[in-house]
Amino acid sequence: MSAEGGRSVLTVNYPPDRTVMELDLLSVSLGLPQGSADMIKVRVNDEERISIVPDSGFECFTVRLSPGVNAIDVTAFKKGREIDSVEFSVFRRSDLEAAYQKAPADFQKDYFHSKKRKECAECHVLVPTDADKKPVNPASFKAALQEGDKQAIASSSTCYSCHSKITSYPYVHGPASVWSCLSCHDAETEPMYMVKKPDAEVCFSCHVEQGRDWGAKKFIHGPVNTGKCAICHSPHASDNPFNLLKPTWFLCTSCHQKNASGRHIIAGYVYGDSHPTRGKPDPLRNGKELTCASCHNPHASDYPRLWALSAGSAFELCQMCHQK
Ligand code: HEC
Ligand code: HEC
Ligand code: HEC
Ligand code: HEC
Ligand code: HEC
Ligand code: HEC
Ligand code: HEC
Ligand code: HEC
Repeated sequence: MSAEGGRSVLTVNYPPDRTVMELDLLSVSLGLPQGSADMIKVRVNDEERISIVPDSGFECFTVRLSPGVNAIDVTAFKKGREIDSVEFSVFRRSDLEAAYQKAPADFQKDYFHSKKRKECAECHVLVPTDADKKPVNPASFKAALQEGDKQAIASSSTCYSCHSKITSYPYVHGPASVWSCLSCHDAETEPMYMVKKPDAEVCFSCHVEQGRDWGAKKFIHGPVNTGKCAICHSPHASDNPFNLLKPTWFLCTSCHQKNASGRHIIAGYVYGDSHPTRGKPDPLRNGKELTCASCHNPHASDYPRLWALSAGSAFELCQMCHQK
């Protein structure tokens, strides 16, 4: 599409229109003749996100996506006048949003690394180096981080030049923080960089204690039992403690909507409509707010209903917070 005399200025080199994305980050790479535009604006679902002053024939950037369809509109300007625009959409899939678990039929997954991508390899290294393959010892990496220069560690990964935003969140997972991407992603798979399934197999290779402890409990939470750790935790980084994909209450109620009211807590025992599940101080965890995890362990427990407190019955559970 072109606004002036049929001349196209913008080319989207990545992504193809109607791609399915798993992460909330999208990489975009544009081509444009040098000097053709002096400003590029990017809108996602009609909201302006980025403006760029182009300085070469290529522009690469990253945008955050919302679950579902994201319509991306890129417009080029010269001296304040619109000279070209392109539009494309991607679908961000999410296991935690009932409406967006499945992509519409006209959207397709595109495995970036299963093609040669010569047009990117001109400037980026697309084959992992020895530095990428370095093993990370979880016990000693913290010390390395403290002693060493963080930037030096980061730039030892070829992934960094394109995926740098994947760790730009307040809570970053250990191995991702040192850019040890290949401790989970396998460079020998087809498509490339797949992660072994179920997740638990990968996670427990480092979190050995958790694997042993949780496996020995009487009751194991559904998604933990099926090894789906990444349904709740980002393996990379997130806005929430423990790299959770949502704050705990919102995470739990994504799958257990009917428990949000707290009615289930008291239904069998006392007369009443609801019991708080958030927005009150937790009487047992100083300084923390009441949440689903005040009463339930998200992984496993020896007590019924995955209770996080050592109570053999609901009545005993009540008494732990409501003494007398
Ligand atoms: C002409 C050189 C060049 C080509 C060709 C090129 N890139 Fe880039 N790309 C760069 C440079 C330079 C940066 C770093 C920009 C910076 O650090 O601010 C970059 C950064 C990126 C980023 C990170 C953007 C961000 O938000 O930090 C992504 C993603 C990316 N490139 C993807 C691609 C893809 C995909 C292709 C192929 C379709 C490609 N690039 C082709 C030069 C290029
Ligand atoms: C040229 C830039 C570039 C480099 C370098 C790069 N990636 Fe990617 N990667 C992408 C783009 C673009 C995608 C598509 C998804 C997106 O928009 O981020 C992607 C997707 C992926 C995926 C999803 C599967 C797929 O093939 O679409 C994985 C996993 C991945 N990258 C891992 C890595 C790892 C690990 C490294 C380093 C060893 C790396 N990438 C280096 C640009 C790059
Ligand atoms: C602790 C293990 C682990 C580490 C370390 C890790 N990843 Fe991942 N990564 C995963 C898992 C698991 C998934 C799949 C998430 C899911 O199930 O949705 C994933 C997904 C991805 C995807 C999107 C895949 C898709 O299907 O679109 C990209 C891109 C990616 N990782 C890049 C990276 C980069 C770059 C690094 C290094 C900073 C890295 N990962 C480090 C475990 C890891
Ligand atoms: C290569 C080793 C490695 C792998 C594989 C790994 N982790 Fe980690 N993980 C770590 C390290 C190291 C830390 C940081 C420990 C610390 O800071 O005390 C960590 C921290 C965490 C934390 C935060 C713990 C806390 O107390 O803040 C969570 C949650 C977590 N990992 C979940 C996972 C999940 C889920 C997977 C699988 C997708 C996984 N990890 C795979 C090494 C690993
Ligand atoms: C249903 C969501 C959910 C699933 C699935 C899940 N976790 Fe967690 N995880 C949480 C929550 C919530 C917390 C924080 C608990 C708290 O607030 O004390 C947590 C905390 C953690 C911690 C840090 C605290 C600790 O107990 O060591 C680790 C490590 C961890 N998870 C690893 C994993 C691994 C490995 C898996 C897969 C076997 C997994 N998680 C599956 C929700 C989940
Ligand atoms: C990805 C979906 C998902 C998420 C997120 C999730 N759960 Fe579950 N939960 C399940 C499944 C599946 C089961 C097993 C269902 C069944 O057996 O009927 C289950 C069962 C339970 C049970 C009942 C166990 C029993 O013995 O009856 C409790 C309690 C529970 N979850 C609490 C939580 C809490 C607390 C959170 C947040 C930390 C959470 N869930 C997050 C999917 C989820
Ligand atoms: C104050 C303690 C407490 C809090 C907070 C709490 N629960 Fe419960 N939960 C219970 C008790 C007690 C039961 C057992 C009810 C029964 O069996 O009659 C239970 C049972 C459950 C069950 C299994 C039975 C059912 O009703 O499906 C699920 C799932 C569950 N809770 C999810 C949640 C979620 C999600 C939250 C947060 C929104 C939450 N709970 C907050 C105490 C609590
Ligand atoms: C983890 C601690 C905890 C447990 C366990 C717990 N409660 Fe509560 N309960 C609270 C908190 C916090 C409040 C809110 C107090 C306030 O309003 O300041 C509350 C309030 C209540 C109320 C008053 C409701 C209202 O509308 O104000 C009742 C009734 C109640 N709980 C009954 C129960 C019963 C029955 C059980 C056992 C099935 C139980 N509680 C288990 C923490 C707990």
